Amino acid sequence: MNRPGDPPTVDWAALHREALAAQAEAYAPYSRFAVGAALLGVDGRIYRGCNVENVSYGLTVCAERNAIGHAVVSGTRGFLALVVVTPASSPVVPCGMCRQVLAEFLPSFPVRAYAGGGMLETTVEALLPHAFEPDDLGRG
Ligand code: THU
Repeated sequence: MNRPGDPPTVDWAALHREALAAQAEAYAPYSRFAVGAALLGVDGRIYRGCNVENVSYGLTVCAERNAIGHAVVSGTRGFLALVVVTPASSPVVPCGMCRQVLAEFLPSFPVRAYAGGGMLETTVEALLPHAFEPDDLGRG
């Protein structure tokens, strides 16, 4: 049973399934590296994201940032967990740009990366220590 202060229960299997469904929609004709992400919102809903590449390469948006955008435009800004799936032979964690964007919304909740039959669990805080955070602006 969950007690106050316990981390929320996360249905990782459901998040993994949603991330795989998102990966199937990836637009990655240049890298052929399809990525899917699934974010669990505090509202209990799951928000999917996939990478969307561009012929200019630099305009590519990663799956994680698209999942955040999908959630925010749906009215959710609080998250409890993130799953990322890639076609790599071992788990791949979010890139530096995504870490900064994720730090805004889910600094300390678990992030799981699945690939090649393996899984790695971490947090954005661990991936991006001393991130530039909303509170930092108030210290100007
Ligand atoms: N990519 C993501 O979507 N998320 C990551 O965590 C790593 C990289 C995408 C960007 C690009 O479309 C492709 O993977 C290869 O870098």
